Amino acid sequence: MSSSTVITNIAALVTNAPSLGDHSPLGLVRDAAVVIEGDRVAWTGESSKAPATDNRVDAEGRAVLPGFVDSHSHLLFAGDRTEEFNARMSGRPYSAGGIRTTVAATRAASDAELEASLTRYLAEALRQGTTTFETKSGYGLTTADESRALRVAARHTDEVTFLGAHIVAPELADDPAAYVDLVTGEMLDACAPHARWIDVFCEKGAFDGDQARAILTAGRAKGLHPRIHANQLSYGPGVQLAVELDAASADHCTHLTDADVDALAGSRTVATLLPGAEFSTRARWPDARRLIDAGATVALSTDCNPGSSFTSSVPFCIALAVRDMGMTPDEAVWSATAGGAAALRREDVGRLVPGAYADLTLLDAPSHVHLAYRPGVPLVAGVWRRGVRKV
Ligand code: NIG
Ligand code: FE
Repeated sequence: MSSSTVITNIAALVTNAPSLGDHSPLGLVRDAAVVIEGDRVAWTGESSKAPATDNRVDAEGRAVLPGFVDSHSHLLFAGDRTEEFNARMSGRPYSAGGIRTTVAATRAASDAELEASLTRYLAEALRQGTTTFETKSGYGLTTADESRALRVAARHTDEVTFLGAHIVAPELADDPAAYVDLVTGEMLDACAPHARWIDVFCEKGAFDGDQARAILTAGRAKGLHPRIHANQLSYGPGVQLAVELDAASADHCTHLTDADVDALAGSRTVATLLPGAEFSTRARWPDARRLIDAGATVALSTDCNPGSSFTSSVPFCIALAVRDMGMTPDEAVWSATAGGAAALRREDVGRLVPGAYADLTLLDAPSHVHLAYRPGVPLVAGVWRRGVRKV
C-alpha cells in the first residue's frame, strides 16, 4: 500500500477545477488541504474536512498550486550565446542565424555533456516549480545528432519533440529542398521512435508554409503529433497551418492578424506565448488579452534556449505576461499550469484533482498572485513531483 500525505493549512489552493473551488477557472479553495496517495492527488478541499493520512505537512498559511507545465523549451544544446546577447543589447537585432552557433557547439559535445547540460537546466526549472516539461531537438540537424538528442531527452521526459526543421543545416544551406527531404526521410525515421511531437520553425530564414506542411504531414504519418513555431518574428502562415493540421499548439504568436486570432479561437490549437523571447530579443509583446478576449486558449512557457530566451523560470514569464501582455495574475497562473497541459493535450497534469499526478508547488506567499506581485523573488518553497517532495 502506498503511503498518504496531507498538506494542510493552505491559505489559497489553486486546483484549476472550477467545481472543486470557487467556480472561477482557477477553482480556488481557501483554508484548504490536499491529500496525496502514491503519485496521485487523492482529495482536495477545506482543511477542516481533510481525511486522516499517514503523514502531515503544514503549509503554514501559504499558497499551493499545480506544478508548472512548461510546454516549450529547447534544452538539448551545448555552450551559450553570451556575446550575441550582449551585442543585441547594444542594438543588433535577433535573427534565426544565431542558431548555427549553437548547432556547432552541440555537435561537438559528447552524449554525456549533452545529458549533463539537460540535467542541470531541468534541476534549475524544478527549483522554480516546473514539474512537467516539453523539450526539443533542433541543434543537431543531422540524423545522428538529432536522434541522439531525442534519446537523451526521452530519458528525462515523455514530452519530447523532434525539431529537425529548426533551420536548414548549414552544410545544405544552398539546397533547402534536400534538407527537407532529409528531415522527412531518414532523419524522421531515426527520430520518430524517441519523440511524441514534431515541430517546425515556420519563419522567413527558416521554413516556409509549404515546407512546414510537408514536414508536419510526414511526421504525422510516422505517429508524431504537430506543434509549430508560428508568427514569432513576422506575420506568416504558421498559425493558419497549425489550425489546419489540428496542431496541439501554435507557439510564439507574436505577429497575428485578426484572421489568425479568429482561427485560433475557433480551434483546439492552443496559443503558447513565450514572453522570455520578447524580453531577451527586445521584441514587441504577444497580445494575450486579444487572444483571451477572442476565446483562444493561451499557454505560457519559457522557450528556454541559449539564443532567444535563456530563462528556465516560469514565475518570471508569469510576471512579464501580467505586466506587459494584458493578462490578469489569475489568467497567467492558469496559462502556466492548465494552459501548458492543454498545449500538451494532457489531463493528468496542470490540475489538482483526484486522479491527477501529485505535482504541486508550495509558495512562500499567501497567494498565487504574488508570482506577479513580487517579480524576481524566489517564492518557490516546496515542490512535489509524482507525489515525492523534490524541493
Ligand atoms: O523558439 N524560434 C526558433 N527557435 C528558438 C530560438 C532558437 C535560438 O535562437 O537558438 C525560439 O525562440
Ligand atoms: Fe522555441
